[in-house]
Amino acid sequence: MLASLVFFLNACSKDDNETVETLETPVANAPKDVNDHGFKAKWNYVSYSKSYLLDVSTDENFTSILPNYNAKTVTDLNEVVVGLTGGTQYYYRVRAKNETQISDYSNVISVVTTGSSGIPEDPTFLKVKVNKLANPFFVGMAIKASQLINGSPYDVILKNEFSSISAEYEMKMDQISTASGVYNWTVADKIVAYGNANNINVHGHALVWHNAVPQWLKDFSGTNAEFAAEVKKYITDVVTHYAGKVKSWDVVNEAVDDSGAMRNTIFLQRMGPNYVKDCFQWARNAAIAAGDASLLLFYNDYATSTNTAKQDKVFSLLDDLKAAKVVDGVGFQMHNTYLSPTKAQIEADLNKAVAKGLKIHVSELDIQVNQFNDISTFTNERRLAQKAKYKEMVQLYNALPAANKYALTIWGMRDNESWIPFSTELNHPGNDWPLLYDSNFAVKSSHTGFLEGLD
Ligand code: XIL
Repeated sequence: MLASLVFFLNACSKDDNETVETLETPVANAPKDVNDHGFKAKWNYVSYSKSYLLDVSTDENFTSILPNYNAKTVTDLNEVVVGLTGGTQYYYRVRAKNETQISDYSNVISVVTTGSSGIPEDPTFLKVKVNKLANPFFVGMAIKASQLINGSPYDVILKNEFSSISAEYEMKMDQISTASGVYNWTVADKIVAYGNANNINVHGHALVWHNAVPQWLKDFSGTNAEFAAEVKKYITDVVTHYAGKVKSWDVVNEAVDDSGAMRNTIFLQRMGPNYVKDCFQWARNAAIAAGDASLLLFYNDYATSTNTAKQDKVFSLLDDLKAAKVVDGVGFQMHNTYLSPTKAQIEADLNKAVAKGLKIHVSELDIQVNQFNDISTFTNERRLAQKAKYKEMVQLYNALPAANKYALTIWGMRDNESWIPFSTELNHPGNDWPLLYDSNFAVKSSHTGFLEGLD
């Protein structure tokens, strides 16, 4: 008690000649509320600081600083920056300040206002770099309708960096089909309209998948022929509804099981082994009837690179579909890890599709770094291993012949939105960081790996 009183008195009498705590450098964060004319700049609290000095510039070296934001004093941990030009690249940084000290500069945050200004596009945006290639391809993102809010950081990144979207789950049968012949188009329409309005390709995912069967169809009490008629009606109506608006569809998803046999789904049980071909034929017929002769039809599946029994079965299924002239391409999901599949395994898998003249969609790429739950934070070692694996995937994809390229789609934007961590479907045992952006929308090393894969 006495000791703490002495300490308190000492602390109070500390004069300016004594050592004071050095001011730490603040950490600037990704902006919020980006719009055509500004954004909210953000940073973290620094102990012993009294205010912050904010710089905003159009140049990442800050050789010229905007007059209103040249060491602007801010007492809060954010500042709404206003009066900017639309579609323009800005940078910001902060220093912490108190009565006696000014800290070093924080990291620099890059932000592009929405709208357009006619300035050149940023070469570190994925689709910008891809579109400069001799043989470009779509850079896809799995999205949810609730994320498509105009001017949000998500929306800005999506429009800046991605040229294709796949619905993560909202265009599956259990979402669209509420009863026989009854459809809820609202959410799916919003997704498709967003793509169409923003010149972003729309990939339809997926017409037939055993994990997205609506309850009414599971419970369907009609004959097998009537069951098949329901599936035909669903495929026909959905393909017709989106004809000319959706560029491609995964017609059947995951029809082969991990032993290399046809998966024992309700579709196999009710419709027999030719059901995959029938579904493709119905999709093709519907597209042509609706005047869309260029709709691309894909078969989509996972783990074909590591599981050769499954790979063999998938490619024999594709042979049948090719013989019937109903398939255009194959989707390799690629829910990979930092260790697997190996480069050689991926290459062999892709090359089989090339040999068959199929378009290739790397359709659901994510790269786990914690599949064994042996790390509790994202370590630098895993960060670099993941970067290398993203780079390898992009290099392999980019090396494909032009005729085989379609899209390379990443399955989610931010790590904290990924389906991977603690996923019951995957039996994933812990947290994970599988994507290209962290929870603050900051690009990760994996994003740099993607860009380097294009060199
Ligand atoms: C997953 C989504 O990411 C989840 O949000 C959803 O709850 C279940 O489906 N293979 C596929 C994808 O083809 O549709 C799955 O997406 C992941 C596995």
